[in-house]
Amino acid sequence: MRVAIIGQGYVGLTIASFASDEHDVVGFDLNPTIVSQLNAGVSHIEGVSSELLKGAVDSGRYRATTTASDIADAEIVIIAVPTPLDADRKPDLNYIDSACRVIGENLKAAALIINESTSFPGTIRNYIKPAIEKYSQSKLDHQYAISPERVDPGRSDFNQKNTPRLLAGLTPEATARTRQFYSTFCDNLVEVSSPEVAEAAKLFENTFRQVNIALVNELAQISHALGIDVRETLDAAGTKPYGFMKFAPSAGVGGHCIPVDPSYLADVAEKAGVQATFIKRANEVNLEMPAYIAGRVAKDNGGTLKGKKVLVVGVAYKPNVADTRETPAELLIDALTQLGADVSWSDPVVGVWRGQESSPLSGAQIAVVVTKHDVVKSEDIVKCAPYVFDTTGKVKGAVQL
Ligand SMILES: NC(=O)c1ccc[n+]([C@@H]2O[C@H](COP(=O)([O-])OP(=O)(O)OC[C@H]3O[C@@H](n4cnc5c(N)ncnc54)[C@H](O)[C@@H]3O)[C@@H](O)[C@H]2O)c1
Repeated sequence: MRVAIIGQGYVGLTIASFASDEHDVVGFDLNPTIVSQLNAGVSHIEGVSSELLKGAVDSGRYRATTTASDIADAEIVIIAVPTPLDADRKPDLNYIDSACRVIGENLKAAALIINESTSFPGTIRNYIKPAIEKYSQSKLDHQYAISPERVDPGRSDFNQKNTPRLLAGLTPEATARTRQFYSTFCDNLVEVSSPEVAEAAKLFENTFRQVNIALVNELAQISHALGIDVRETLDAAGTKPYGFMKFAPSAGVGGHCIPVDPSYLADVAEKAGVQATFIKRANEVNLEMPAYIAGRVAKDNGGTLKGKKVLVVGVAYKPNVADTRETPAELLIDALTQLGADVSWSDPVVGVWRGQESSPLSGAQIAVVVTKHDVVKSEDIVKCAPYVFDTTGKVKGAVQL
């Protein structure tokens, strides 16, 4: 099949790398730097090796483009563009809208359009379909479906092949064609009764994580106040073989999904007349963690951080990836700075962030570990400052959250 993928980021490129084994794939992206790198066989995504990408480019099965008309004869179009929050933390569908414009203005024949971007229930039916129809010059009888992406960048045990994939079309034909397409590279397809169920399930999966992380972060604060070790408490609770799932405390949640998706659910809930108070509070608890941590660090250091050199260790939102989107390190740096600290950061996996290069792992009076990459040794972290506060539970000898 001729497949066009709109957006060549974490999701779009991952799909492209699997689909190009069986199909002819065009990856459309607005970013010319990414596109020329991809065509040179250089991947910018953990989990998609440059070797694999180069093989797909050399075989002629994959090419990236910034030319929208290159998608004209696609039989399948996959939308994989960002779905962030706006300044008021409300769903921002501007990227989806621009993808719909590209599709509407350029497709020359009827195609199957599948959304993989995360969004609220009703997006494919009430937003994407009407938008594509609005932008189309001629009336084409497109089919529409949803198959939310579950990729976990940097993870090797679960991938496109062995992660169960939800799917549903607006029509039985769309569902059948969607199943046929994904069955060429995914072993476990789970059909649900409507696109709205698939869209809601995706949001709930990430809301479940957000809420449980908030709960365990609250427990970390309670445990500290009571003089109890939170991680030992969680290990103890984790010995129960049923009815309990262990989550770990942290500086908060990051990435493109966990801090964002629950707000899509809360927004659609409010529009339907339901106050999603629980989801909102979970979000607040996680967003408050950096200020809580900065407060603890100040308290342990004579009650003030004024003029003290503080090094934040690990600014990626999770270990072994370079992704800093929505990283709690950003709020932590703000909170430490507000308390008067002179803050720098060190993260060799990220390298450059906010126009600054990673600092060496040395020379600070205080270090706060947000993310512990495998390439950064715990022994080096504990030696980098006289006082080290660890939010990850991985740095032995440091003060623990
Ligand atoms: N990253 C993840 O782990 C993950 C997992 C599951 C679901 N998702 C969801 O998948 C979607 C995409 O996320 P991502 O992480 O791949 O984003 P990303 O930022 O890594 O990539 C998106 C790409 O889309 C491009 N783009 C934006 N507008 C475009 C347009 N109109 N036409 C062509 N290209 C355009 C950008 O240049 C960028 O390269 C989001 O809805 C996200 O929530 C992400």
